[in-house]
Order: sequence, then C-alpha cells, then structure tokens
Amino acid sequence: MSLSQIAKTISASPTLKLNEKAAILREKGDPVIHLGGGEPKSKVPMDAIISAVAHLNTAEIRYAPADGIPALKKAIIRYTEEFYDRKVAPENIIASGGAKQAIMVALQAVLNPQEEVLYPAPYWVSYPDMAKLCGAIGVPVYAEDGTFYPRIQDIEQRVGSYTKAVILNSPNNPSGAMYSEQFISDVVDFCERRDIWLIMDDIYHRLIFDGKKPINCYKYAKDLSENSKLIVINGVSKQYAMTGFRIGWAVGNKKVIEAMSNIQGHQTSGPSVVLQKAAVGALNGIQSSVESLRLTLENNRNVMMAYLNSFEGVKVTKPDGTFYCFADFSYYNKNSNKLSEFLIDKVMVLTVPGAEFGMEGFLRLSYCGTIKEITEGIERMKWALDPNSPNELYIGDRKLVRDWS
Ligand SMILES: Cc1ncc(COP(=O)(O)O)c(C=O)c1O
Repeated sequence: MSLSQIAKTISASPTLKLNEKAAILREKGDPVIHLGGGEPKSKVPMDAIISAVAHLNTAEIRYAPADGIPALKKAIIRYTEEFYDRKVAPENIIASGGAKQAIMVALQAVLNPQEEVLYPAPYWVSYPDMAKLCGAIGVPVYAEDGTFYPRIQDIEQRVGSYTKAVILNSPNNPSGAMYSEQFISDVVDFCERRDIWLIMDDIYHRLIFDGKKPINCYKYAKDLSENSKLIVINGVSKQYAMTGFRIGWAVGNKKVIEAMSNIQGHQTSGPSVVLQKAAVGALNGIQSSVESLRLTLENNRNVMMAYLNSFEGVKVTKPDGTFYCFADFSYYNKNSNKLSEFLIDKVMVLTVPGAEFGMEGFLRLSYCGTIKEITEGIERMKWALDPNSPNELYIGDRKLVRDWS
C-alpha cells in the first residue's frame, strides 16, 4: 500500500498496545495485574462533573474557539500565577486536546524538517514519534554517569547547529526523577543563550514526594518578554485524574501561541467545550483531591520501593514524583521487550519495556493502582524470575507451575 513516508515511520503507542493485551486477557477471565498503567484511579473532582453537566444541561453545545474558551484561559491565568508566580495574558495561552496535543502543536510550530529536538533519556514514549510527525529528528540525551539525572554538560554536548528545541519532563515519565533546581536553571540559561526553544512538560509537577516543591522554570529566565522561547505545558489529566477529558494547555509567547492555535484550528478545532468546562471546574474548585492523590501515590511509591528493594537482582532509583518507577532488570534479561512478554505470559503481570523509553534492560512499573496490585504484582514477578522459587504458585484457585528455569 502506498502509505506516506511519515505513516511508515510511526508505530502504535506501546502503552496503548499493552492496554489492549491486558483487556483481551481480562475478558478471557485471566487475573491480570496491570503495572503498566498511566492514569490515576481516583475519582474526577465533583466540581469538574458539576461544571460539565451544567453546560450539557443547556443543550447548546457549540464549537469552541481554536485556542480555548475564555473561562478556561482565566482559570489557567490564575493557575500560572499560583504555581509559576507569573502573570500572563489570554493570548499567551492555548488549551488543547490533552497535554499531548499541546506538545504536538508546539513542536509543529517551531520545528522544520531535519531540525532536532533534544530530550533527556529515559523519555516519554511519544516524544520521538512527535518529532517524526514534524519530519524532524528526536535526539535522546543520556546522562554520562548512567543515572536518570543528566547534567547541563550532557545537553551541551548533544546540541548542534540543527538543534531547535529541548524538552524537559520533570518529574519524569518513566523514571519519576525530578531534576534539580540547578539543572533546570542551567538549561533555561543555556537555551536562552543559544536561542533554543525550551518546552517544559510539567504535567506531573504537583505529584511530587518527600516534601519537595514544584520547580518554577520562569524563576531562572532572564528574558520574560514576548521574545521568550520558553513554553510551559500542563493539564488536568494526571493531577485531577481526568485523563479521559483530554484537556491540556501551553503557555508561551503570543506569536508561538498564535501559530499553535492556527495549526490546532485546522487539525481538530478547539477541544470540546463540555470538557473545557470540566477543566474549569477542576481548576477553580476544591483542590483537596490533588493532595489526597499525591499522598496516596507517595504511600504507593514507598510500598513499591520496599518490595522492589527486597528483589535480588533488581536495581531501582527511588522516584521523586509521578506514579512510575523505572527498575533495572537486566540481571534477569537484557531484552526488556522479551522480559515484559515473559511476565505477561507466565504470571499475567503487565509491565512496560524500558526499550520504549530509550533504555534497554529496564521495566517501567506503575504504582497508580491499589496496594494489593503492587504487592501481588511484584510477588508474582519474583516467583517467575527467581530460580529458587517454589515450583508452584496459586493465584486464587488457579495453580501455576514453573515449566522454565
Ligand atoms: C510526560 C507526559 N507528557 C504528556 C502526557 C500527555 O498527557 P495528556 O493526557 O494530558 O495528553 C503524558 C501522558 O502520559 C506524559 O506522561
């Protein structure tokens, strides 16, 4: 079939593929444990529901402006003041179909074919394909010391004449690593000096642990004028457990936001007005659900760490935030795709292979589920991987027998 060059280079989202696999097994009645999830399980805030329902009840659901409804922009202006201590105008904001679309249109607005966008590894699975969709090239940056915490020198070394943008995602999906203030300040400064766009993917910035506070990138910017090349991405998906609402946003200079709005206007038009109203409800409503989600995730993280640390052969760095950890399983298998397949086939535990995030030998494990899912999931993995495990494992009344060594 004569598909386009771009179509041929884009693969299905690995996490969505895994979700399908888990759903098929569950339908068959298999007791799958999903440690691959990318969404909190808490309820959507009631203020979001009330606000969306009120709009639905008008029975007048129309097109929204391409860049977002004024009420949502007003809520985002307030959010930006609260978390970034920065006053922005409505023209500095675009609301999109999730943070995903906000990042996509930002890249389309700044990247020419063959130009490069850099991002630290491990990286969110979509960045490389988003770069490809622009005809551009995604360049992962690995920390020289092998950690999840790159230094500015690591970035500097990969920057060349084709580098047009850098994306920083902190805390990071999949590692949970939150970059230091020093690193963020160095990158902001470096991008300003080199006239490079800096896209801060802050989608997890409130889901952080151990008393840490969200880092405000603007604090380190010297140029806060309409020439600033800093674009900040955020959304309601993770912090308000509203993944299905598909509302995210970007804050940037007026020219880039206008370009993004023009692109989005032709792609999808503005996001559904009902869902934007829901986001307004969440942003302006009672905020206790965010703190309660954060506390639950911190507790889940602690349980996940305790279980993984007692897993001989596994090396893991304690996440600073998000609801993921990225553990090194190379002792058992250096091929993360094979290992992930083995775990779903043998003990029905779903994990995401590290190769998808640019690091072989690792698995991404989520702790956004229940404590029982975390503990039982890790126990099953231990049983499958430890050659000294007993020969049999019971899952409910189902008996699994080891037929591998
Ligand atoms: C790092 C990162 N950025 C952006 C997104 C997209 O979020 P949204 O659901 O708002 O499109 C995700 C979702 O998994 C993510 O992990």
